[in-house]
Amino acid sequence: MKVSVIGTGYVGLVTGATLADLGNQVVCLDILEEKINTLNSGKSPIYEPGLDELLKQGLKNKNLRGSTEIEQNIRNSDITFICVGTPSDKNGNIDLSYIKSASSAIGRALRDKNEKHTVIVKSTVVPLTTEEVVMPNILKKSGWKRENLGIGMNPEFLREGSAIHDAQNPDRIVIGSADDIARETLNELYSPYKCTKLECSPRTAELIKYASNSFLATKISFVNEIANMSNVWGIDFQEVAEGMGLDSRISAEFLRAGAGFGGSCFPKDVKALAAAAKKSKVESLMLKATLEVNDIQPKIIVKMTEERLGVVKGKKIAILGLAFKPDTDDVRESRSEIVVRELMEKGANVIAHDPEGMPNFKEIIDVKMAPTPELATEKADCVIIMTEWNVYKNLDLELLLERMNGNVLIDGRRALDSNLADKVGFDYKTIGLG
Ligand code: UDX
Repeated sequence: MKVSVIGTGYVGLVTGATLADLGNQVVCLDILEEKINTLNSGKSPIYEPGLDELLKQGLKNKNLRGSTEIEQNIRNSDITFICVGTPSDKNGNIDLSYIKSASSAIGRALRDKNEKHTVIVKSTVVPLTTEEVVMPNILKKSGWKRENLGIGMNPEFLREGSAIHDAQNPDRIVIGSADDIARETLNELYSPYKCTKLECSPRTAELIKYASNSFLATKISFVNEIANMSNVWGIDFQEVAEGMGLDSRISAEFLRAGAGFGGSCFPKDVKALAAAAKKSKVESLMLKATLEVNDIQPKIIVKMTEERLGVVKGKKIAILGLAFKPDTDDVRESRSEIVVRELMEKGANVIAHDPEGMPNFKEIIDVKMAPTPELATEKADCVIIMTEWNVYKNLDLELLLERMNGNVLIDGRRALDSNLADKVGFDYKTIGLG
């Protein structure tokens, strides 16, 4: 099938690369020439394990290319995926401006086309967007009759760091279609994948995406709240999580307590769903609480640090981990941002390290950085682990203690063996261990 993908961000690139890998003719479109040049040189404009290789392979066997010729390439394809960003505005509402300009471009492209065409929204959008914003815009700009256009919504459930694996081994594919053209086209495109394919309306697909992300975020905030209770009652939350996770209705996944969730999806999506519901006069108490707990967690890390150091002013504090999770350079909504900012405001001498996230973090906060964990922790009064990278999990604790000035070790992700840390002589504290 001839596929055009608008937007060469995270979702667009992974979608384009994996569809090309299935043998489709894919063109990835973006207005930014620099990104397209990078892509056409076989390099991924974003850091994602395995993506470079898949892009190179697609370019080599001519199933994949990038282009800034947006309208012409849309016209020459059978199906167009909209994979543009849907950021939040300052009130948490979804900003649909990229969605609107993508649908206008599609409308203009289709003006001179005589064959049928399918448009699928893959960007995360609030319910009704595909039917009430994208479709009318395309019809208006193209002058097309409704019956020639296939319209659908097909959400992605990709995790950063394992996006290629997730795209190639989906748990389920949600086929939200407003008509038979979109339904049949998506079923054909995804026929190589043997997982469950759920057919529904576009608005249902839109809500499935938000509900899934919000549920996972809520699960994290819930366990964080229980972990905070475990802290004061002298209970090890890891054992509680194990006991909970053995119930197949609960499942053992997403029960890791700590500094809270970050990233480009969970915080934005929970806020957008709550804001969209409020606009429709449904107040979400659950989502509000999910966000509140998530804001509290990094503050608990700061409090633990203050309790141990007395005052933090003038103390050297090493922050290990700036990315919102391991194996990514993405620092968006990272909990480290809150911890670093608060400690700097309180006058601490903060020095940070992250294997991949330092350049991106530098754009948010001008904090001192060290090129290695060893240099960051040299003569530190306190070390705080904020991201559970393997390099931190494998730290030699005896050498770490020798290098430090003090012995306070705060583990915001339960990355280390608490018994070992105690044995070595650390004043070790983590969320969910009394
Ligand atoms: C998430 C969803 O998993 C994915 O399906 C969706 O498409 C996009 O959002 P991602 O943001 O890449 O993916 O990261 P994920 O691995 O889900 O982790 C999100 C955040 O939750 C991270 O900050 C992580 O540290 C935190 N987390 C995760 C916990 O604090 N505890 C857990 O048990 C799991």
